Amino acid sequence: MSADHFFRRGLRPLLVFLSFFSLTSFSKSDELQPLLEFKSALQKSNPNVFSSWTPGNSTCSFSGIVCNSNGFVTEINLPQQNLSGILPFDSICKLQALEKLSLGFNFLHGGISEDLKNCTSLQQLDLGVNSFSGEVPDLSSLGKLKLLSLNTSGFSGQFPWRSLENLTSLTFLSLGDIVFEESPFPVEILKLEKLYWLYLSNCSLGGRIPEGLGNLTLLENLELSCNQFSGEIPGDIVKLKNLWQLELYFNFLTGTLPVGFGNLTSLVNFDASGNSLQGNISEVRLLKNIASLQLYENQFTGEIPEELWEFNKLVALAIYGNKFTGLLPQKLGSSQFQGQLPRSMANCTLLEYLDIGNNQINDTFPSWLVCNLHSLEVLDLSYNNLSGMLHPCLGNFSSRLSVLQLQSNNFHGTIPKTWAKGSNLRMIDLSENQFQGELPRSMANCMMLEYLNVGNNQINDTFPFWLGALSQLKVLVVRSNVFQGAIKSPEINYTFPELHIIDLSQNSFSGILPTKYFQHWNAMKVVGAKKLKYMEVNYGVGGLGRFIPFTITLANKGTMLKYEKIPDVFRVIDFSSNRFEGHIPELVGSLKGLHSLNLSNNVLTGHIPPSLGNLTNLESMDLSQNKLFGEIPAQLTQLFSLGYFNVSNNCLTGPIPRGNQLDTFQNNSFGGNLGLCGSPLSKKCGDFKYTPTPPYPFEENQRLESPFEFGWKVVAIGYGFGFVIGVVIGQIVIARKYPWFVKIFGKM
Ligand SMILES: *[C@@H]1O[C@H](CO)[C@@H](O)[C@H](O)[C@H]1NC(C)=O
Ligand SMILES: *[C@@H]1O[C@H](CO)[C@@H](O)[C@H](O)[C@H]1NC(C)=O
Ligand SMILES: *[C@@H]1O[C@H](CO)[C@@H](O)[C@H](O)[C@H]1NC(C)=O
Ligand SMILES: *[C@@H]1O[C@H](CO)[C@@H](O)[C@H](O)[C@H]1NC(C)=O
Ligand SMILES: *[C@@H]1O[C@H](CO)[C@@H](O)[C@H](O)[C@H]1NC(C)=O
Ligand SMILES: *[C@@H]1O[C@H](CO)[C@@H](O)[C@H](O)[C@H]1NC(C)=O
Ligand SMILES: *[C@@H]1O[C@H](CO)[C@@H](O)[C@H](O)[C@H]1NC(C)=O
Ligand SMILES: *[C@@H]1O[C@H](CO)[C@@H](O)[C@H](O)[C@H]1NC(C)=O
Ligand SMILES: *[C@@H]1O[C@H](CO)[C@@H](O)[C@H](O)[C@H]1NC(C)=O
Ligand SMILES: *[C@@H]1O[C@H](CO)[C@@H](O)[C@H](O)[C@H]1NC(C)=O
Ligand SMILES: *[C@@H]1O[C@H](CO)[C@@H](O)[C@H](O)[C@H]1NC(C)=O
Ligand SMILES: *[C@@H]1O[C@H](CO)[C@@H](O)[C@H](O)[C@H]1NC(C)=O
Repeated sequence: MSADHFFRRGLRPLLVFLSFFSLTSFSKSDELQPLLEFKSALQKSNPNVFSSWTPGNSTCSFSGIVCNSNGFVTEINLPQQNLSGILPFDSICKLQALEKLSLGFNFLHGGISEDLKNCTSLQQLDLGVNSFSGEVPDLSSLGKLKLLSLNTSGFSGQFPWRSLENLTSLTFLSLGDIVFEESPFPVEILKLEKLYWLYLSNCSLGGRIPEGLGNLTLLENLELSCNQFSGEIPGDIVKLKNLWQLELYFNFLTGTLPVGFGNLTSLVNFDASGNSLQGNISEVRLLKNIASLQLYENQFTGEIPEELWEFNKLVALAIYGNKFTGLLPQKLGSSQFQGQLPRSMANCTLLEYLDIGNNQINDTFPSWLVCNLHSLEVLDLSYNNLSGMLHPCLGNFSSRLSVLQLQSNNFHGTIPKTWAKGSNLRMIDLSENQFQGELPRSMANCMMLEYLNVGNNQINDTFPFWLGALSQLKVLVVRSNVFQGAIKSPEINYTFPELHIIDLSQNSFSGILPTKYFQHWNAMKVVGAKKLKYMEVNYGVGGLGRFIPFTITLANKGTMLKYEKIPDVFRVIDFSSNRFEGHIPELVGSLKGLHSLNLSNNVLTGHIPPSLGNLTNLESMDLSQNKLFGEIPAQLTQLFSLGYFNVSNNCLTGPIPRGNQLDTFQNNSFGGNLGLCGSPLSKKCGDFKYTPTPPYPFEENQRLESPFEFGWKVVAIGYGFGFVIGVVIGQIVIARKYPWFVKIFGKM
């Protein structure tokens, strides 16, 4: 019997029967109903998307829908559509030919139901960047999956790692930024030999990174940052010849870079910052394609290979916080970089980020390098031994420059006057140098400026009222210079509207306190936000977005505290150690956001205004060493957050008000006022009666609900209920070098 004969005679009726059967059991028209259910679950959030999804139109013409040649739905593509709602997986998985479900970057919530297991044709499941909740169900029936992207999606709990055993076709696996229950590295992944993309950053994984990743030779992107990994970087990682991105930052990795690391010649981005890696990094000299190399905050020793400076693709380099020795080959033996910058760096003209802060570089301002870096966004030369004058190119060499940190060097001379219009600068820190002369008026061209610190120099100028036009300026520090004269009333009505922190201390300002300015400082009147944010600058190095926190050193509790991060809600006025005279204006009481008010060591007279009792966020108040008289207003007992209080060395009289925080301060808060009496002073008050004060209004555990409570208790007696300053004290104790600290607080 010929095949033709057999076909005509035997098989044909059977084929007809089969296709008839499949049509009756499930036809194209049966796909309308599930799609309409999908629509009704989500359409409220964006009706436009679904305008074509009507029974009058063919399902295959619905926007976002793709069908195969038989008219069955194979794809739902609706990423970035502002969709919100709960996905009806029971309906979705009735689409039996569905290969691709792409709904990333939406606001979908709820969970994934068990019905997902019926979506057995799925090859791409892209639900990343959404607002889901609950656990991810078992996925082991989705054996055809090539792409699984669930990063940043809101899921939690246990991830069904075991399912990955069945997903042997996976090429793209993205589960980062999900707070799963802590687990070791899922070994199931080591069998997924087709993977080219593995994103597991911020994922609560612990233990060691296992050997075996080297078997995934197609890997191009491997991201394991912000986990709890300890131990060494596995040696077989050097087999990943296709790797262009390797991110291991903020773990607890120890040991050295694996032998043969230089074989990873495809690497473009390598970041292992915030670990405890050691040894020499000489192999990186072979990574000729590297654009971003970030190894900061580790224990690396030895010299930086000279070749690095000749990499002409290098865009970002951050290697501070290590124990490298000698920047120049002839200078050895110190714990940090010393000597001059290598002149070969002049070839790195593409740099967008240059951070060589915190070393002992003994050189002049590197104009031979900086003035040619026309793409630079971040320049950090801080904490070195740089000296000489700045080059005028500084104000305009790169229109992209947003962070300029030159603090703690020995620069002298005047600050350049070349600040260009259209500048992108957000942060300028010139503090702790020996700059002289005036603050150049052209700095007002930096319209984006949020942070200006020229503290601890020898700048001789009057109050820079002209900076008041900078509508973004949050931090202004001119402490410890030779600023002088009265602060005249502002000429414009919106002056310093965003100011959070102003430090004029240790200058020679005189005249009355600037009441008119207090009127306009609107940001000082805002009482803190609920969510903890830090003041910082975002910048994007070669598309790798990062942020740099503002840092500041402020007087608090009589000592100087360095804040490695500044909570965005923080509001500070420090006018101490000047020659301000006259009264403390009643209006200060309207700056309700204030956390710290320091007017000490001036020649202020008059009464302490009762309105200061309205500053309920205040954690630190220092009015000492003035000529204030009258009684301490009883309203100050309403300052429940007060952790530091000093009115010593004035001419105050009468009884010290009793109650709440005021009861916690000692003699030295009140001493040097001959007319004051009552506890804690030994002088009795005679006939004075205590005015009863209202009882403390909070329950003890309400303290824990503050957004600034971090899980450890920093609030001790005398610290009041101040969380912002408390946090800072915590930070000082912890110090920023501990990676887990950066890890916990770096992302908030
Ligand atoms: C079909 O979809 C189009 C939009 O693509 C819409 O304008 C039209 O009204 C729809 N037709 C029916 C019958 O719903
Ligand atoms: C999503 O919402 C944002 C903000 O409301 C809007 O700018 C954007 O155009 C919306 N996108 C779509 C696809 O509707
Ligand atoms: C999923 O498949 C099971 C068994 O094949 C079936 O009983 C169930 O009804 C299906 N669920 C959906 C939503 O189709
Ligand atoms: C995160 O998820 C989105 C949406 O699914 C995806 O486009 C993106 O590539 C994922 N990011 C990473 C780093 O895997
Ligand atoms: C997963 O794979 C195993 C072994 O290949 C197989 O026995 C099992 O049926 C698969 N599970 C599902 C749900 O398909
Ligand atoms: C990696 O591959 C080697 C050789 O093919 C094999 O012996 C080893 O078991 C693999 N490792 C893992 C973890 O799969
Ligand atoms: C690195 O590459 C060289 C040359 O291709 C090879 O000889 C060497 O074995 C490799 N090293 C490792 C550790 O893979
Ligand atoms: C810059 O690189 C070229 C070769 O690429 C080299 O000849 C030159 O010496 C380098 N310049 C400096 C200043 O190192
Ligand atoms: C810095 O360099 C100068 C000139 O090169 C040298 O005289 C001086 O001793 C160096 N200072 C330090 C602290 O190394
Ligand atoms: C500050 O500048 C003024 C006016 O230019 C000058 O009279 C004064 O001596 C300067 N003071 C200091 C300390 O340099
Ligand atoms: C400032 O505001 C006041 C009223 O609030 C108004 O009388 C005055 O003209 C304004 N001044 C300027 C310079 O806009
Ligand atoms: C501020 O305090 C004063 C004096 O204690 C009081 O009269 C006034 O009403 C308070 N103002 C506000 C806005 O709470």
